[in-house]
Amino acid sequence: MNALATPVTPEFRPMKPEDIDRIILIERAAYPYPWTRGNFVDCLGSGYSCWVLEVADEVVGYSILMAGAGEGHVLNCCVAPAWQGRGLGRLMMQRLIQAAPGYGAEFLFLEVRPSNTRAINLYDSLGFESVGLRKHYYPADQGREDALVMRYGL
Ligand SMILES: CC(C)(COP(=O)(O)OP(=O)(O)OC[C@H]1O[C@@H](n2cnc3c(N)ncnc32)[C@H](O)[C@@H]1OP(=O)(O)O)[C@@H](O)C(=O)NCCC(=O)NCCS
Repeated sequence: MNALATPVTPEFRPMKPEDIDRIILIERAAYPYPWTRGNFVDCLGSGYSCWVLEVADEVVGYSILMAGAGEGHVLNCCVAPAWQGRGLGRLMMQRLIQAAPGYGAEFLFLEVRPSNTRAINLYDSLGFESVGLRKHYYPADQGREDALVMRYGL
């Protein structure tokens, strides 16, 4: 596991509407096809489990879990590009895995682009397994990209 290069402790706290301006900046920098502001507003309004990760009072990452019917779906997990590769993504995912039974989830599911090697390596190393492919799921520069569906048994 990567060590944080800074001597500060990352803190998790629930996402607030005031965080969305900062989150949108990270989202646009981190994804080729970012979520809209409305997506985050909807997630907060729907009562999904929305968290931010702060380092020295700065939001550097966030995760969103939708839970129900014995399943948790990781809808978003993102670390600001400048903070990637320091163990924060792993920390956020471990946190979701720990929290999921509290929402009654027996399995966690997520979708990931097959081209997103970094994320797939992370999920693999945490114990997620590939369970399927959703064809033509994501927008892509040319046509659409499939989604790899991964599952974690809690
Ligand atoms: C995917 C993401 C959340 C990972 O967070 P991160 O903080 O960069 O990752 P970590 O430093 O915690 O590293 C976790 C693991 O990811 C993998 N990883 C990290 N950097 C990598 C790289 N450059 N290449 C390949 N794998 C890499 C490794 O398995 C690593 O574990 P290890 O360091 O113990 O070997 C982050 O890169 C990100 O936000 N990317 C953009 C948004 C995104 O794609 N989210 C996932 C959508 S499904």
